[in-house]
Amino acid sequence: MTEIESVDFFTDQSLIADPYPYFDALRAKCPVLHTDAYGVVAVTGHEEAAAVYKDPDTFSSAISVGGPFPPLPFTPEGDDISDLLAQHRDSMPMSEHMITMDPPQHQYARSLLTRLITPRRLKENEQFVWRLADEQLDEFIDRGRSEFLEDYAKPFSLLVIADLLGVPEEDHDEFRLVLGGKPRPGARVGSLEKEALDHNPLQWLDDKFSTYLEERRAHPREDVLTGLATANYPDGSVPPIPEVVRSATFLFAAGQETTTKLLTAAVRVLAENPDIVEQLDADRSLIGDFVEEMLRMESPVKSDFRLVRKSTTLGGVDIAAGTTLMVCPGAVNRDPRRFDNPHQVRVDRDNVRDHIAFGRGPHTCPGGPLARVEGRVTIERLLDRLRNLRIDEDKHGPADARTYGYEPTYILRGMTDLHIVFDKAD
Ligand code: HEM
Repeated sequence: MTEIESVDFFTDQSLIADPYPYFDALRAKCPVLHTDAYGVVAVTGHEEAAAVYKDPDTFSSAISVGGPFPPLPFTPEGDDISDLLAQHRDSMPMSEHMITMDPPQHQYARSLLTRLITPRRLKENEQFVWRLADEQLDEFIDRGRSEFLEDYAKPFSLLVIADLLGVPEEDHDEFRLVLGGKPRPGARVGSLEKEALDHNPLQWLDDKFSTYLEERRAHPREDVLTGLATANYPDGSVPPIPEVVRSATFLFAAGQETTTKLLTAAVRVLAENPDIVEQLDADRSLIGDFVEEMLRMESPVKSDFRLVRKSTTLGGVDIAAGTTLMVCPGAVNRDPRRFDNPHQVRVDRDNVRDHIAFGRGPHTCPGGPLARVEGRVTIERLLDRLRNLRIDEDKHGPADARTYGYEPTYILRGMTDLHIVFDKAD
């Protein structure tokens, strides 16, 4: 039998559809386990993961997204690699994004966001979220069937971020075409289509925001983009436009796919479990907890990485400076030491909000409140407007032999497609 340590989580395709038995096996051996795969230490315990997230002095975010790929541009030596890391940091992938930064640079980069994602802005944005949910549903509700990712989850999560950032509504079709897949039915996008095909979407997004922000700095208006364009760093200095653009555009990268995956997981569970639909419909106040339970059960971020900056001990296990730690929210959130019957969906779990799907500590997801609203509003409107929601058996097979596709990546957990059928509420 293969030792669990020698399984290569990064390439083993058999773990894609259902990584949870593997996570359980890792945790059962030790919640902090040295593996053979690239020397990575897997953290699958809840308490241990929270400790990692809250200690940026020992655990650097420099490799938070890619983990062991590409390898470090230096050879770690000694019990403290802080100096080596500082020398090479700029050459490491994504070093310009806040998600890979450590304090104090991280606080600087993040401060621009905290100016933007304020309770007031979220409240205004929520009104748009309700309207958008209905508009997306209108696009396919008469068909009685849908591929939920393309029809709803992708364009919805994209446009919610666009609105949060104050992208004018007349530009939403263009955003949807370039970044969200299918254009809106009836959208006038003839010339845009060519533009979308000619552009690298991320470059397009960068150019778009640079133009918005330069224009707003030159001619301030009463709008969100002006607020972003004129935000200062905590010391009062004015950030260069590319740094503001980076903070803004990174929201699309961080928030669109993750939320799409959450919404799709939630709708799959509802379509599989009419009893849960009934329960939520009878008591709508349970919807918030159901969204939390979906974050716990199907955490969209499957692995998140830290570089051990100083030799340390975690959960009683010695770890040398220079080691790559892989924190697995999907595993952590099913730790039986924290959650009873962790593999069971329960709408009435007392401690469901203890999940770590949004991380902890200084990098805690700033989009968490938004993702929660998106989940809640989507489910409210599905309950209002659809009846008899079920899985399309022509596409996914009968109840006792379902087949679902999952994205073949070690970083995120999410379905490739979800076909549903339903009746329209009267
Ligand atoms: C279900 C949806 C989401 C999940 C599961 C999720 C998960 C996470 C996690 C685990 C982190 C921490 C990464 C780390 O510590 O290394 C994070 C960071 C981040 N998330 Fe989210 N996220 C979601 C939605 C969003 C949304 C909607 C936005 C934006 C509107 C967003 C923007 C960000 C940003 C900017 C960061 C980096 C924060 C920092 O480095 O300080 N996320 N997210």
